[in-house]
Amino acid sequence: MANLVITIDGPAASGKSTIARMLAERLGASFLDTGAMYRAVTLAAMQAGVDMSDEEKLLGILETKKFQFAAKEGKMTVSIDGVDVTEQIRRQEVTANARHIASAAKIREKLVQMQRQFAANEEKIVTEGRDQGTAAFPNADIKFFLDADITERAKRRKAELQSKGSSESMEQIQRAIEERDKSDESRAVGPLRPADDAIVVDTTDLTIEQVVEKLLCCVEEKKRKSTAVLRTPYGENAKSAEKEIGSCFRRNDNVKNSADSAVKSKKPKMRWFRFARWCCKIFCRVFFRMRVYGRENVPDKGAFVLVSNHQSFLDPLFCGVYLKMPMYFLARDTLFANRFFGWLISSVNTIPVKRGEADLSAMKKIIGKLKEGNGVCLFPEATRTSDGKIAPFKPGFGLLCRRGEAAVVPVVIDGAFECWPRHKKIFSPGSEITICYGKAIPAEQVKNMSDRTLAEVLTDTLRRMQTKSRIKHGKKPYNY
Ligand code: DC
Repeated sequence: MANLVITIDGPAASGKSTIARMLAERLGASFLDTGAMYRAVTLAAMQAGVDMSDEEKLLGILETKKFQFAAKEGKMTVSIDGVDVTEQIRRQEVTANARHIASAAKIREKLVQMQRQFAANEEKIVTEGRDQGTAAFPNADIKFFLDADITERAKRRKAELQSKGSSESMEQIQRAIEERDKSDESRAVGPLRPADDAIVVDTTDLTIEQVVEKLLCCVEEKKRKSTAVLRTPYGENAKSAEKEIGSCFRRNDNVKNSADSAVKSKKPKMRWFRFARWCCKIFCRVFFRMRVYGRENVPDKGAFVLVSNHQSFLDPLFCGVYLKMPMYFLARDTLFANRFFGWLISSVNTIPVKRGEADLSAMKKIIGKLKEGNGVCLFPEATRTSDGKIAPFKPGFGLLCRRGEAAVVPVVIDGAFECWPRHKKIFSPGSEITICYGKAIPAEQVKNMSDRTLAEVLTDTLRRMQTKSRIKHGKKPYNY
């Protein structure tokens, strides 16, 4: 087997082929387009006039014809019985018929064998398809799963087809892609899905170069074996912090003790928490016009980190008040100087953090809370926005998520900046505030992401969510 196997899976028109080819080129690796293999068998079956539903006959085609796949100058060339069919396999009729071949279990088995054989002869390989990380190379060194909005994929496919002289409409193209997605996702063998340990990259708003850079960055990070970097819980510089936290959480006694005491004091705490939440809801209803979306994306149980943009002092309240579970928050320690306010925020699970230094004690507490199966709300910009835009996230929070074995839920707050910008002493009542909870990144996936990648992915996700939300509510999106 090759020394380095990188798999890239994803739906039709998510950009896999181009990106896999470019990544392979940058890494000096071979490139395998497995879709071309399915297409070649499809073309051969069509040429032989075989019934596409007759699996045995289709298998006969694969066994009797001579298929050759070679990577030349970064392009896969394909031949059947010595005839070059590289261009022909891209024809639309072939695309439409390929699903029959892709659903035939025995053919898939043979093609997977051929893919492994191909990899065995290469030193490094980037291979793309639908099942590369799940079925063909479950032990690959790095697995990516590229995805993009259906409309964006249709747009890309239209541009590609137009350059070849086709005049299909957007609707037709989008419908065809949707059908292919359905067929790819629902087949019994080798269905399209991200491997549990795949890094999922949404390419909707990214250029090809940006995606390639992102993937390269993950490959580099993987090589460097993820040396976590931290200064404050959000900061960037403390390998020693990871070591210390690591040793603390290998021995999990403190967590157990705090869990025991939490059980003892749970009842009155819950009553107080419910009352506080009710007061906060009344406050929101009186002073703001709240819109809340995607609450179903927040897990009911198990460790998770809500990662939000930071627009105003009210953000922790906005993020937590509509959730069933009590959340844990962080606040700078100076806010605890006032005894009443300090008591109040502590009573609703706020952990003090020292600013400008590696506050190991706070980090241990957060990880402890996550390990007990709680939700923690973090604002990885580390400070409130000065213009409403989302600043790039500081990568340090990745360590907390990994050590706490937590899923990550992106949350976007919109309207809080207009309601209470930095320079104003008090908020403006009557403002519209939107809270959107996005799809969670599962803990297993977070574990395989470097701090930098996680920060970049979440910055992109939140910016996209913010743009969508602003357009939806008739506001001008920010320019990133
Ligand atoms: O990626 P593509 O459009 O060239 O793929 C052509 C067909 O092959 C498509 O129907 C999906 C299928 N395919 C597959 O089932 N498994 C793969 N590893 C690659 C492609």
